[in-house]
Amino acid sequence: MRRPLVAGNWKMNGSREAIDLLLDGLSGISTTAEVAVFPPYVYLPQVVSTLCGSGIDVGAQNVSEYQAGAYTGEVAADMLSDIGCRYVLVGHSERRSLFGEKDRQVAEKFVASQRSGLIPVLCVGETLEQRASGKTLAVIAAQLDAVLERAGLESVCNGVIAYEPVWAIGTGKTATAEQAQEIHREIRQQLGEPGMKTRILYGGSVKAANAAELFAQQDVDGALIGGASLDSDEFREICKKACVAN
Ligand code: PGA
Repeated sequence: MRRPLVAGNWKMNGSREAIDLLLDGLSGISTTAEVAVFPPYVYLPQVVSTLCGSGIDVGAQNVSEYQAGAYTGEVAADMLSDIGCRYVLVGHSERRSLFGEKDRQVAEKFVASQRSGLIPVLCVGETLEQRASGKTLAVIAAQLDAVLERAGLESVCNGVIAYEPVWAIGTGKTATAEQAQEIHREIRQQLGEPGMKTRILYGGSVKAANAAELFAQQDVDGALIGGASLDSDEFREICKKACVAN
């Protein structure tokens, strides 16, 4: 039995004040799903301390593949672990497309995160062009393979995978529940038997209005939510729906 995970990726949004308000709105959230929020680095200590004892976990949006040393501007997995993070996003499509992260680097970040006791949420997904040319499955298989080769099957299966079609991120265009299920099933098949325990989240314009249908799919174990996670009412609604369906 896989416990659903609803993850809120706040991206580069917020201020101390705005985050306090958002966290206020999350108190007393009612769900049997696991919930985690991913604030910008500088607000992590504030969020960790406010959410302490609330049952809501905290994650970072990125991590360095290096352990320590002369890497100006980078943040190590040990540091995230040290301040109380449980999760970390690895290979988000914005990191891949805007900051040039390649599969190999993503794989190193995955390994570095697990080495520090964090749970990596590995993001994979195809662009619109890749989907239109029938390359969706090949693209996702290659993204996954790079991490499987470096980390090994068991380690990948102990992480979380987020399928986020790039064309659905921040666009208001969600994949249909059937499209999501098809890719999630393929990912699980690629992982084989050990992948039965792996949580595979869907991400891309998830909101309260479409969450229940997505969560009702057999291989959809929750969601990675961007825009809608900045609205506490909307996010609470999505969390509620995660427990009914699964
Ligand atoms: P979105 O973002 O929900 O705003 O589409 C999802 C994500 O980037 O993780």
